[in-house]
Amino acid sequence: MKILGIETSCDETAAAVLEEKNGKISVLSNIVSSQIEIHKKYGGVVPEVAAREHILNILPVINEALIGAGIERKNANKKLDAIAVTAGPGLITSLVIGVETSKTLSYVWQLPIIPVNHIEGHIYANFIGDYKKIKLPAVVLTVSGGHTMLILMKGHDNLKTIGDTRDDAAGEAFDKAAKLMNIGYPGGPAIAKMATKTISATDQINETIKTIDNRLKKAQPPTEENLFQIHLPRPMINSSDYDFSFSGLKTALLYELQKDNNWKSKIPQYSQDFQQAIVDVLVSKTIKAAKQYKVKSVMLAGGVAANTELREQLKNAVGKLNLQYILPDMQFTTDNAAMIASAGIFKAKRSKSFDWKKIKVDCNLKL
Ligand code: KG4
Ligand code: ZN
Repeated sequence: MKILGIETSCDETAAAVLEEKNGKISVLSNIVSSQIEIHKKYGGVVPEVAAREHILNILPVINEALIGAGIERKNANKKLDAIAVTAGPGLITSLVIGVETSKTLSYVWQLPIIPVNHIEGHIYANFIGDYKKIKLPAVVLTVSGGHTMLILMKGHDNLKTIGDTRDDAAGEAFDKAAKLMNIGYPGGPAIAKMATKTISATDQINETIKTIDNRLKKAQPPTEENLFQIHLPRPMINSSDYDFSFSGLKTALLYELQKDNNWKSKIPQYSQDFQQAIVDVLVSKTIKAAKQYKVKSVMLAGGVAANTELREQLKNAVGKLNLQYILPDMQFTTDNAAMIASAGIFKAKRSKSFDWKKIKVDCNLKL
């Protein structure tokens, strides 16, 4: 089965062709046209601007995906089995462009069209490749700019949300915190990069001692208490449910910055603790859910799954439970169409009747 995937739910115009053969899913092409450079100056995605860019990009991106997969446009109807497209959730003006383009192609090529939930797409990024090795049930931590969810996956048509974000999603919190510190957009990668620049308290002491030894040869070394330390809250880490809330964390950071005249020199430390606060909460709740639901595997999905600390720290925690740990290849973490096509493949196995006249955009589409 060969499927063309199309994704335009936010600020990436993406198309990909995936093939399923002998129990494996391979990516024949994967094209992503990112609008990051355009939205950077506003510090966030401007829906109207995103939609205009999608209109300009969608056909060239699909064309490139077909060429990349070795499919001639005039033969596309014979080479492809279906078109999978993100129908929601997302920005309505962005979604509509992907969906209407897909409907047009479906009409012209006489191919079935498969509506895919964007969150489901993120989860199915994990099924690209040798998907048969994945053990279910799984608890899936889905973390993106718009969502922070814990999902219990018992089967391909059996996804149950067990925890959701009450306010800001993890990615959104990263983006807002980076904006507060003025370190760039998108905030997740900017904060992750800054956090690597921190040095430990012990290293700070040793550095200071070295400097003092060299220059004065007689001063007392500073104590750890004299050095800068920060500890932001870990919101809802001990709550009895699986919900998340990150808007208070961002406000806590704002208050810390306002109190500190010298915060600009300590951006790495603030970034490090902000990132660690989010990772602590995500890992703790995911592990708690994995134990309660007695799953066989733990899966990570969504744009924030690109965060190295989260990938590593969750891996260590899952390792202690002796469960399978599944995480997406880096290129399939942030928005792309390969994940949409992958979800489409599994949906097409369940049903063949997808009619272009019935596909509707739903910006609040639930799982
Ligand atoms: O899944 P995605 O591409 O779009 C949505 O569906 O929302 O996720 C984008 C989010 C942004 O908030 C971005 O800051 C975050 O993913 N992100 C990261 C990293 N790379 C992207 N967050 C933390 N660390 C990263 N390395
Ligand atoms: Zn996404």
